[in-house]
Amino acid sequence: MCTEGASDHWVVGTESPPPAPVGKRYCKCYAQASKLLKSAFAAMTALKSPSPKAIRPDINWLDLPWLVFLAGLAILPPLWEVHKQLVLAALAAVQLSESWMVRRDPKRGPTYAVALKLLLATVLIDHTGELSINSSYYPIYYLPVITAALYFSPLVTLLWTLLASAAYSSYLLPALEEYSLDASGFTILAIRIFFFFLVAMVVNRVVVESRRQSRSYQLLAEQLTETNRQLERAQAETRRSERLAALGQLTAGLAHEIRNPLGIIKGSAEMLGQKVANTNPLAAELAGYISSEVNRLSALVSRFLTFARPLQPELALQDLASSLDRSLKAVQDQWHGEPVLVQRDLPAGLPLVLMDATLCEQVFVNLIQNAFEAMSDAGGGGTLRLRVATANSNGRDGIEVTMQDSGPGIPPALREQIFNPFVTTKSAGVGLGLSIVSQIMDEHHGTIRLLDDTGAGAGFVLYFPLAPDGDPSAEANAL
Ligand SMILES: Nc1ncnc2c1ncn2[C@@H]1O[C@H](COP(=O)(O)OP(=O)(O)O)[C@@H](O)[C@H]1O
Ligand SMILES: [Mg+2]
Repeated sequence: MCTEGASDHWVVGTESPPPAPVGKRYCKCYAQASKLLKSAFAAMTALKSPSPKAIRPDINWLDLPWLVFLAGLAILPPLWEVHKQLVLAALAAVQLSESWMVRRDPKRGPTYAVALKLLLATVLIDHTGELSINSSYYPIYYLPVITAALYFSPLVTLLWTLLASAAYSSYLLPALEEYSLDASGFTILAIRIFFFFLVAMVVNRVVVESRRQSRSYQLLAEQLTETNRQLERAQAETRRSERLAALGQLTAGLAHEIRNPLGIIKGSAEMLGQKVANTNPLAAELAGYISSEVNRLSALVSRFLTFARPLQPELALQDLASSLDRSLKAVQDQWHGEPVLVQRDLPAGLPLVLMDATLCEQVFVNLIQNAFEAMSDAGGGGTLRLRVATANSNGRDGIEVTMQDSGPGIPPALREQIFNPFVTTKSAGVGLGLSIVSQIMDEHHGTIRLLDDTGAGAGFVLYFPLAPDGDPSAEANAL
């Protein structure tokens, strides 16, 4: 179609075109192309492009066939047109550095790549035909068009294709100075331009579709990760239950063995106390101590058993602040470590809470004991702040107890685990305290949470709802 024969030319005329000096023609077409590019450039960079990393691999081994095809073009006529060869070499360089450009500047890299290819395509057309508009190399415009389709949204791809079509059509102007454009010539030009758009849209469609698919895969992967996380949590819960079940068996056996001798010790101490009540008051007092300590031990064994077995709290409306006060006294009475200053903010007259006082005292004792131990272990005592106040959680009224100590705080690695059984940092610790606490809070339909690490010691917040829902027996007990 683009041979020298006049009948094959779709821009036809009566005269042969005067051969323009090569340098002059080059400058002219360069000026045309750069003018067009300049105006489009600013508009295109302003439009947001999708992340190109998702589309192009880092190591682009597909560039090798590219080079082979460009070399193929280089050995086709016009063979001795140095500008053509230079432009092909420049196209190869742009292609090879495209991934690098895009990586280096993901926002503007694709724009640079498309603009350079468009510019080089326009220059190539100018050096591959007597009449540039007739050049057989016009499909070179597919390069910028397809590159734009790979990186940009459909609208921006259309704009780039429009620009490529304008750049190509601009060669019509110098040709029309010498020739006229007949109907079939116009048709051929229109067909070529429509193909630019067709290719751009087809490639862009594929790319958009693959982006959509990769997004849905990503979503699926996120869902799978979340499911996996839930599964891991469930497995951890199961492991914890298994450990608790094993512990239950152990405690049941131990309790049986310990309770019998305890019963004998208690009975003997009481008998001894009665026998020497009148003759030896000191011995009677000591027997009383033995008896009360045995009671405490029995209670402990029972608590240990209740930890392993389902709790059955006996809920009744109680004053939480006074329960906390009693627990504090119990810990202080038997505390032999560094002196601890306790700041209490326990207002009177707060609403009563449905609670099992014994279990809740166990909660408070465990937490206060932990705080005392942590501050004492850190050396030099410290301050424990206790605060009780009304609170609202998820629309439910309740009472909140805040305990904040000035100790070393909970190590970050432990924060997730401290409510699990057997997690302890103490050489003589069992690691059951906080898991019992969390179990008791569950029974009260309450919550326990660790305050954020502010570097000022450990802080726990307990929330007790005023009227636990879903537990009619509890409300019945309270009446
Ligand atoms: N107030 C606190 N300050 C610092 N660490 C704490 C505090 N309370 C609990 N911990 C940490 O949580 C761990 C678990 O506590 P707990 O379940 O009561 O078991 P135990 O007291 O037998 O170690 C403790 O060993 C300690 O490391
Ligand atoms: Mg403890």
